[in-house]
Formats: sequence, C-alpha cells, structure tokens
Amino acid sequence: MEATTGSTVRTVGLNRQFRTGTEKLTAVDDVSLEITAGSVVALTGPSGSGKSTLLHLIGAIEQADSGTVTVDDVEVTSLRRAALARYRQRVGFVFQRYHLLPALTVLDNVIAPVLPRRGRTDHATRARELLDAVGLAGRERALPAQLSGGQQQRVAIARALMGAPGLLLADEPTGNLDSTTGGQILDLLLDLRDRHGMTILLATHEQAIAARCDRLVRLADGRVTEDLDLTDGEDPADTYGRATQLRL
Ligand SMILES: Nc1ncnc2c1ncn2[C@@H]1O[C@H](COP(=O)(O)OP(=O)(O)OP(=O)(O)O)[C@@H](O)[C@H]1O
Ligand SMILES: [Mg+2]
Repeated sequence: MEATTGSTVRTVGLNRQFRTGTEKLTAVDDVSLEITAGSVVALTGPSGSGKSTLLHLIGAIEQADSGTVTVDDVEVTSLRRAALARYRQRVGFVFQRYHLLPALTVLDNVIAPVLPRRGRTDHATRARELLDAVGLAGRERALPAQLSGGQQQRVAIARALMGAPGLLLADEPTGNLDSTTGGQILDLLLDLRDRHGMTILLATHEQAIAARCDRLVRLADGRVTEDLDLTDGEDPADTYGRATQLRL
C-alpha cells in the first residue's frame, strides 16, 4: 500500500440545519476547524451534539447550508456531481454498525465499493493485502455472520481503505464493541495511520478512546466548546500523560 501524509481538512463557518415540522434545529453551528495532515482527532460531545452531522458534511454525504469544507486544496462544498463522486471515493467511512453485506464473503465486502471500476484482479489483490493488514488473513471466504463484532469492524476498515483514502471518517467505530476489542480497533487505526499516512476524524463517546487520539474536539449543540491538543509536544506514545489531562 502506498504511504501518503494524509489530508489536511479545513472547515470555515460550517452550518447545517434540519427542519422538523415548524422547528428549525441547528445540528452544526458555525464550526471552523483546521485539521493537520496525519492527525487523529476525536470528536466528542453528548448525543445530538452534531458529531455525525459534522462527519457527514466533511465526507460530503450531506450538504452544508453555509460555510466551506476544504480537503487538501479542494473546496468540497463547491464541487459538482462528477467531482463530488470522485471526492467521496477518496474518503474512507467506518460506521458503528459495520454495514457489511451479509450475503457477500469478507473478500467481496472489501471489494464491493470499487466493483464498478475496472481491473478486478488488482482489486482482489489489494483487498487481500488490506485484510492481511487488519489481521484477517485467512478469513477472506467467511461470511460476516461468521465473524465477531471486532472482526466485522476490521472488514469495514479494510473496505474503507480500498480507495487509499487520505482521510478516514469514523462514526463511533468502537461503539458496539467491548472496551478491549474497541481498544484493539483503535490500535489498528493508529497503526494504519503510522504506516500509511492518513488523517482520521473519529466520533466517540468513550474517554479511553478519545484519550489516545492526538486531539480532542468537543461539540455541544453543534458548536465547538473545547479543542485540546493531547500530544502536548510529548512523545505521541505517552498515552498516560494524555489521559491525565482529560476530563470527559
Ligand atoms: N436527518 C435529520 N433530520 C432531522 N434532524 C436531524 C437529522 N440528522 C440529525 N438531526 C438532528 O441534528 C442533531 C445532531 O445530530 P447528530 O446525529 O449529528 O448528533 P450526534 O452527536 O452524532 O449524536 P449521537 O452521539 O447520538 O450519535 C440532533 O438534534 C438530531 O436530532
Ligand atoms: Mg452520531
């Protein structure tokens, strides 16, 4: 797999409202963030604070009402259809509920997002490499139901990496897992970042997960209320030092 440095992400004055009946609800409210290439950022905050919506806006799954998202030198919020589709293919998504296709093997689940593209043989080779990288070598022919939750999430991570994304957006990727398995999934994400260069934006409710990220951004009612550098110029492996700064 090719190493990159990961994407830089900038949001400026990002807004997203939802209309429910006559009510207007501001899910993301004037969010401006600069995210360094290669960093792993935890997005925290209570349920309904806008974490998922912010990830969807950055991944261009949803459209902002105002404000901009810029990834590397591409202003995502002004892209039109074809360019937008290309952008989405360059972003990796991982969700809390793995969203694997139950009738497809592990290998085919990983290949599925790129199937319409040409070069199927190469896709299978890459998918096998990725399954190896996430610790699932030998399970290519299993069906999702034959895997544990942690293993299914590993498949979902391999699938997200098929397009060699510079940016990985993960919405509570450990939310359905016990703390040990969740910790292992975070180990995997940090390792993939170190080896292949990727920026990771990860929504989480778990202190133990957030504490191991490089930075913590907290949302409340759609606004950024806290933005902590957890590396603090220290050895990035010093998670004890980071955890002691953190109060979730
Ligand atoms: N499609 C939608 N239609 C209407 N309201 C929505 C929609 N999506 C999100 N919202 C509202 O926007 C707000 C932010 O929701 P969001 O899902 O981003 O929060 P969250 O921080 O991810 O919460 P959780 O921790 O529960 O996943 C909530 O009040 C939610 O009800
Ligand atoms: Mg959410």
